[in-house]
Formats: sequence, C-alpha cells, structure tokens
Amino acid sequence: MTNLSVNINKVALIRNSRGGNLPNLVQVAMDCEEFGAQGITVHPRPDQRHIRYDDVPQLKAVVKTEFNIEGNPTPDFLNLVLENKPHQATLVPDAPGALTSDQGWDTVGQAAFLKEVIAQLQEAGIRVSLFVDAEERLVEGAKKAGADRIEFYTGRFAHGFYEGKEKAVEPHRRCALLANQLGIGINAGHDLNLDNLRFYQQNVPGLLEVSIGHALISDALYYGLGNTIQMYLRQLR
Ligand code: PXP
Repeated sequence: MTNLSVNINKVALIRNSRGGNLPNLVQVAMDCEEFGAQGITVHPRPDQRHIRYDDVPQLKAVVKTEFNIEGNPTPDFLNLVLENKPHQATLVPDAPGALTSDQGWDTVGQAAFLKEVIAQLQEAGIRVSLFVDAEERLVEGAKKAGADRIEFYTGRFAHGFYEGKEKAVEPHRRCALLANQLGIGINAGHDLNLDNLRFYQQNVPGLLEVSIGHALISDALYYGLGNTIQMYLRQLR
C-alpha cells in the first residue's frame, strides 16, 4: 500500500501571483482529501514564494489525513514544525534560492547535524524522513542518524525514465531492499507523474508514500483535481 500525499505548493503559487485568496489553499487541501488523497504536503521555502509560514497553522487545523511539512531545517523552519506538529517532517537540503530540490542529504558527512535535528523533532512526536539520493551509503547514513524514513529523490529516475526505465529504477530498487533490511521506511518524490508512477511503485518494494505536486497540479488543469487524484491513486493500486 503506497499512500499519495498531494504537494499543494503550486496552488499557493497561483494564489500568491494575485495577492488575494484565490484559489483558497485551505479549501483545496480539504478537497484533495475529499477526493481521496491520503496526505497533504507543503514545502515552505525561506522566500515564501508559494507556501507561506502563516498557511501552516491554518492547514494543520483542517488536514485530517497525514500532514507532511518539507524543508531545510533552519531555525525558522524548525520552529514552524515544532509549533505545528505535523505527522511527518521531511528534511531537505535545499539552498535558500533553489528553484526546486534537486539532491538529497549527505547523510554521512552531515551525520552529527542530522542526528541532533532528528532527535529534536522525534522528541516532539514528529516522524522524520530524510530526502536522499538512491545510494546505499546514504541510506545507511540515514538509518545511523536515526531517521524513521527516507524519501528517495526521484528526479534523476524521472529524467532517465524515457531513455531506459529499468536502468533508471535499478538504484532505487537496490536501495529499497537495503532500507527494508535496515527497517527504515521509504517515501519518494520529485517529478513523479502518470507515466512513471506505476513503474516506480512496482519496482520499489516497501514504498510507503509518494508526494507529488508539479505534475499532478498540471494534470488537474486538464482533468480536474478530483479526476486527477483518482488517476494517480489508480497507478498506486
Ligand atoms: N519531495 C520534495 C522533497 C520536494 O522538494 C518536492 C518539490 O517541492 C517534491 C517531493 C514534489 O516534487 P514534484 O513537485 O516534482 O512532484
């Protein structure tokens, strides 16, 4: 069973482009759940160009499924997470001005820092997932740092998919087997879409959750949000 968490950053981006409250992010989050999503993901970035810090408590108040907050664990981000206590925090090493996250943690080189942050969040009852590239040593590093889960960065897989999907998924399959052995849960995200999702899920044993934003919201322009969420859920069945 792989859960679908809908990343609603792009909805906030459209709202922010006009300064008002259209589309209404809180309503969209509730509707995503109504349409079958099993989680809501937000990724507030330091420039707040999509999700704003003050969106988070409003979402926390209404989200009934799993609430996942992603981001770089700066002091501001950690305060936000600790104040709002989502079910899951996904830590991502993105630079302040990054267009999007394009790599995972060096869980070996940054072990001491990660260990401390993970312990702090877990003490507050928050599950912690670390965004990592599909490399065995990074999975082992995440386990040693005490993470509950890893989120595989799937951007490289998605880009390689159209040239050779078997080759593109192979590191993820190997790392998933290792993660299963080590007892660390597996999430995945970035550039997953209706073309590659089913293949990814079928080849990554123990995949617990995918978080999907850009492609899903883009597909919703054509199919509508309710239909689109159902289409993604069907890929995961
Ligand atoms: N996971 C992480 C850590 C991300 O930063 C993002 C993008 O915000 C996603 C998943 C979702 O990626 P996409 O928008 O390409 O579906």
